[in-house]
Amino acid sequence: MKKWDRNHRLQTPGWAADILASLVDPPNSIFTILEPTPGEGSLIRALERRFRNDSRVEIITPPPPNWDFWEMPVRKVDWVVANPPFTPFTEVIKYLKAFFKFSDNVISLIPWYTLINSQRRVNYLVDMGLSEVWNLPRYTFPGTRVQTCIIKCVGGYRGKIEFKFASGKNGSFMFKRGKDLV
Ligand SMILES: C[S@@+](CC[C@H](N)C(=O)[O-])C[C@H]1O[C@@H](n2cnc3c(N)ncnc32)[C@H](O)[C@@H]1O
Repeated sequence: MKKWDRNHRLQTPGWAADILASLVDPPNSIFTILEPTPGEGSLIRALERRFRNDSRVEIITPPPPNWDFWEMPVRKVDWVVANPPFTPFTEVIKYLKAFFKFSDNVISLIPWYTLINSQRRVNYLVDMGLSEVWNLPRYTFPGTRVQTCIIKCVGGYRGKIEFKFASGKNGSFMFKRGKDLV
């Protein structure tokens, strides 16, 4: 087991990984996506599902022998799609800042507190082009107390920030009145 092989109960459920993967806006040319902390590979599998028939995409992860994101030489990629470790809680923003060294376009599942309990962090992420925030339901990570959301940042984005409620039920991304309120 590698030194960072922990947090297994926080592997992304498939439906949430599919939402993360759906938020990638592929360019018209060959493009690269970095999954920096793949763990058991849920997000990699969702990216492969989304881009199954797209030979233009290259999905990369930290390289062997250590598979460690912190040891990975910085290289430019088109998108970072991530669910980084949540503990200790100060780590999350360190990961986000490091992701922006690899790309202007970052999609990440994060604990809500990372976004909202520091105005400096809100300012930082808005400045990095925050374009969407998806609230994930309480049942995303059963047995934990952590409330999570997905953020999407697009380099240079200065438009309205969209706020969405995600649903893991009914095979649907969006929370539906009447169906999910049971
Ligand atoms: C919250 S889990 C998410 C895993 C995976 N991204 C997914 O979507 O299911 C965070 C993962 O980050 C991995 N991890 C932690 N530190 C890492 C590092 N420095 N380099 C690579 N992976 C790391 C852990 O093993 C853990 O599986």
